[in-house]
Amino acid sequence: APSALIRPPGSPLTVIAHRGASAAAPENTLVAQEIARRGGADWIENDVQPSSDGVPFVLHDATVDRTTNGTGNIRALTSAQLKALDAGSWFAPQYAGVRMPTLAEQLADLRTRGGRLLLEIKGAHTRAEVSRIVALVREQQMTDRVLVQSFEVDVLRYTRELAPELPLGLLRSTLDPDPVTISTELGLATYNPSAAALLTRPAIVADLHRAGIATMVWTVDTATAWQQLEALGVDGIITNRPAELVGWNTRG
Ligand code: G3P
Ligand code: CA
Repeated sequence: APSALIRPPGSPLTVIAHRGASAAAPENTLVAQEIARRGGADWIENDVQPSSDGVPFVLHDATVDRTTNGTGNIRALTSAQLKALDAGSWFAPQYAGVRMPTLAEQLADLRTRGGRLLLEIKGAHTRAEVSRIVALVREQQMTDRVLVQSFEVDVLRYTRELAPELPLGLLRSTLDPDPVTISTELGLATYNPSAAALLTRPAIVADLHRAGIATMVWTVDTATAWQQLEALGVDGIITNRPAELVGWNTRG
């Protein structure tokens, strides 16, 4: 059966909010998630990494330097230290005091308020670290609303072994020689290239569709590019401007 993630011809692009509505609010926070939800995004994208005591947090960079008032590598900071940081002031004064969410908090918010999560496990993770993430998704009863994506093949293999019920996506900034072969081998639901990578060989979209695999392309914020990718048949767009893409989807 064709994947439910494959977009039927003529239907709107699936809208995936990159780190939440990250052009409007501090990325990877619950306020960015809420704005994306109100804007009509289908999915929230995030980035997950562990604290030094093993708690999965939502943060893109390896360090907290750019997006908080602290410094240091996330993997060297305790969950208590991370929770004490201001993750909003760097973006705008009105967001002072916004906290970096744990993955558990983000999942709980999605479960109660609605929405799906494109959960990126960022960087190399051990099997035990992936196991902790999977356990949270199950505890929050979100296995039917989460897709795990990663640039790391090992991370996807661990996820498949630990939680065969979770759909998987492979992130790529350059295309594999044969995207269908690696996608089939890993049991992927989606193959997720950068827009620049996809444009080097757009025919892979149809190849993947024939194999039952969808494409979610990142990170695309202009109507010109949305138009181009829609014409190429991609299924979902990961964007910093989800409300604008929702509006563009429903243009007269
Ligand atoms: O979701 C894809 C995209 O987020 C991958 O790049 O660096 O923003 O995590 P990055
Ligand atoms: Ca990401």
